[in-house]
Amino acid sequence: MAGLTRTLLASLALSFYPGLVSALTSTLQQVTNFGSNPTNVGMYVYKPTTVTASPAVIVAIHECTATGPDYFEGSPYASLADTYGFIVIYPSSPNSGTCWDVSSPASLTHNGGGDSNGIANMIPYAISTYNADPSAIFVTGSSSGAMMTNVLAATYPELWRAGTVYSGVAAGCFVSNFGGVDAWNSTCAEGLTDDTQQQWASVVHAMYPGYTGTYPPMQEYHGTADTTLYPPNLNEEVKEWSGVFGYNAAAPTEVLDNTPLSGYTKSIYGPALQGILAQGVGHTVPIQGDEDLKWFGIIPGGAAPPPPTSPPTGTTTIGTTTAPTAPPTTSSAPPTSTSGTVAEYGQCGGIGWTGGTVCISPFTCQVSNAYYSQCLPA
Ligand SMILES: *[C@@H]1O[C@H](CO)[C@@H](O)[C@H](O)[C@H]1NC(C)=O
Repeated sequence: MAGLTRTLLASLALSFYPGLVSALTSTLQQVTNFGSNPTNVGMYVYKPTTVTASPAVIVAIHECTATGPDYFEGSPYASLADTYGFIVIYPSSPNSGTCWDVSSPASLTHNGGGDSNGIANMIPYAISTYNADPSAIFVTGSSSGAMMTNVLAATYPELWRAGTVYSGVAAGCFVSNFGGVDAWNSTCAEGLTDDTQQQWASVVHAMYPGYTGTYPPMQEYHGTADTTLYPPNLNEEVKEWSGVFGYNAAAPTEVLDNTPLSGYTKSIYGPALQGILAQGVGHTVPIQGDEDLKWFGIIPGGAAPPPPTSPPTGTTTIGTTTAPTAPPTTSSAPPTSTSGTVAEYGQCGGIGWTGGTVCISPFTCQVSNAYYSQCLPA
């Protein structure tokens, strides 16, 4: 299984930024002894020659088979850090094959002693060592790093001002019912986990029992042609954070076509949650560095609001429920099953789908893969 994991997730090829690394004002530094580090996660830091007086920090998390230094070279954040004066931390997975542990109770629990714990402990170090702004700490990642981004938002919600996720799964979706560390979960990967937003909120709250503070605003990207982590995972992520924030995952307040790129559709579920579906894009959704900086409020143009402070709804089961132990069946309530009611870009079919199958005119139901059909312009 571990081998399969690596083969599948290795298909996430990063775009490289040739020339940019050599043109940077500073170099990548490894930091050891940043604090308690139960699973021996690597810490690499890019601190530009010139940073702001109290710099923001972006924690940028790599995919399987890669390392922190790979993500430094393969993502735009270091170059942007030079331009805007923030710091980037690139954690490096200690696991064989370098996927992140997003399956064990240790990593899925606040201060549980897993990979998430090691990454979280880099933040107090960065605040004291670099005079980083505690209210401007952000987290992002791709694929396995995207899964970890959601896990960090759930296990350490107090640390992050906002997060952005490229091709991940909902926090807790990759749970191993054997308690396995860094385990593959094909039910989740294939888009067959189908929880309600209330169930997802319970999964999140169970990761940090007793926590009553805010959760960070989240942006979730996913490609419709992703055959590694199937596209229904976007909807599970949206349900998860909608459940936490008290939004309705079935009713975005705004849907923006061709945003931020042609063929991408941004659905806004409330001020703290955006889902971005990239039409025809596979497992590698290219990192939108400028968009990330806007969401993080580092540059103008659409900053995430402060985390919602009103008590979220649907969270009365804090700490009492965990992810289901059996693959879900067809128990989820479809939004509707009457004819002609699925909106543009809505799901209209696929293995396990029990919702509506007929699209609102003039859209037609088109097969993306065995697990996902979608209402698209004919
Ligand atoms: C995979 O994850 C789902 C939740 O997404 C869970 O119900 C299931 O038990 C997990 N499978 C294994 C083999 O651990």
